[in-house]
Amino acid sequence: MHVDPSRHSNKLAVIGTGYVGIASAIGFAEFGNYVVGYDILSDRIRQLQRGLTPYHEAGLAESLAQHLHSGRISFTDDLSAAVEGAAFILIAVGTPTTESGSADLSAVEHVISSLAKLDLGNAIVVVRSTVPPGTCDLLADRFDGNVEVIYSPEFLREGSAVSDFLNPDRVVIGGRSDSAMQRFADLLAPLMRPTLTMSATNAELSKCMSNAFLAMKISFANQVANLCDEMDGDALQVLNAVGGDRRIGRQFLHPGIGFGGPCFEKDVKSMIHLSRTLGVDCDLLDATLGLNDRQPGRISLILEAELGRPVRGMSLGVWGLTFKGGTDDVRDSLAIRVIEDLAAHGAEIVGYDPAFKDPDHTLPCRLAHSALEAADSDALLVLTDWPQFRSIDMRTVGHKIRSGLVIDGRNVLDGDSVVAAGLRYRGIGRRRSSDAAELAEAG
Ligand code: UGA
Repeated sequence: MHVDPSRHSNKLAVIGTGYVGIASAIGFAEFGNYVVGYDILSDRIRQLQRGLTPYHEAGLAESLAQHLHSGRISFTDDLSAAVEGAAFILIAVGTPTTESGSADLSAVEHVISSLAKLDLGNAIVVVRSTVPPGTCDLLADRFDGNVEVIYSPEFLREGSAVSDFLNPDRVVIGGRSDSAMQRFADLLAPLMRPTLTMSATNAELSKCMSNAFLAMKISFANQVANLCDEMDGDALQVLNAVGGDRRIGRQFLHPGIGFGGPCFEKDVKSMIHLSRTLGVDCDLLDATLGLNDRQPGRISLILEAELGRPVRGMSLGVWGLTFKGGTDDVRDSLAIRVIEDLAAHGAEIVGYDPAFKDPDHTLPCRLAHSALEAADSDALLVLTDWPQFRSIDMRTVGHKIRSGLVIDGRNVLDGDSVVAAGLRYRGIGRRRSSDAAELAEAG
């Protein structure tokens, strides 16, 4: 079956083919719309036309192929063709952080300027990118009242983007026009989720503060873990008990080397920048970021304490380079920050990652082809929470690790299995509980 999207009333244009753009395109196609994806990057458009996704996510290529085949999704690098006849134009371009901590809105600005030159009919422009409060009202003014601009943030995570798109806890829509917000709410009605409408500024704040709160939860968990490390506590047990209170909740209380990726740090910085600009105290946000900046340093502290010597000259194996499991994204990955820090202090590092395989990488480490190859080291560091690391037989890799030390920076391994394989295990916030020597003494 092939459908001409320009002749369909539910045509959507999605501007930007990053994580948010592609997941949204697939999501809207899933419930019956016709979506044209546009990007300024012509090479990427050609790849997408052939069904090649620009990033790794389980199931994504299959969904894309299915919708390319049905004709519900197509791609173009011609903006006017993308928006022609569209009922909604979704903007999903990147908004990285600048030196000062404010958001770099140049890509959004560029899209708006280009759109302002085109005849958009009665299309509604929907901003999906994360933008600082106040942005969408300013963008709306660029159309001199001829086009409605609303803000509806995405809450999807990399690695589970399409299923998050299809299963949001709530839909947030902000704008000046009730009828435009209602039209977009109708488009999202198949999701059958609570829809919260508000001003664009409140919707923008909702997105940034959701990420800031999640980041704060992680820093809180890491604070608890660091305390447990000094007092024979087990942070996983403590946080399981704390999060068991439904008012608190267990999600995002998993301690480790901190939060990475392109969103949390950027959004917390953007809220700090906004608060400072307005003269509002932001101690909680500062502390969230400060703790996260220091957290990767736990790895070298544990390493030196356990092996009783500086890292200079050590040969270290690393499992996991991406900012979290399930993605090949290394942007703001704390695993990379740990590697850079250890390499700067004279360690030699061999890294293995199930998804990141870039032969042109500039990381200060050699890439191994397997987890076994990376384990051939003085000590093994686990820095990304890839679930498949749990099923590696530590008896098979253990004899490669000369000191027998495994530092689990994401608390992803089963400490008892590591210890049962005759190795020494250190998690974050689980300093003593799984220590082989102490277990033996206690037994
Ligand atoms: C995050 C939010 O979770 C999404 O809701 C939001 O839409 C997205 O940012 C965005 O603004 O676009 P994402 O950055 O893809 O999604 O990844 P998360 O799963 O939130 O993880 C972020 C980081 O926190 C990772 O490094 C992860 O390992 C770390 N993390 C997460 C922890 O250290 N502990 C936890 O308990 C949870």
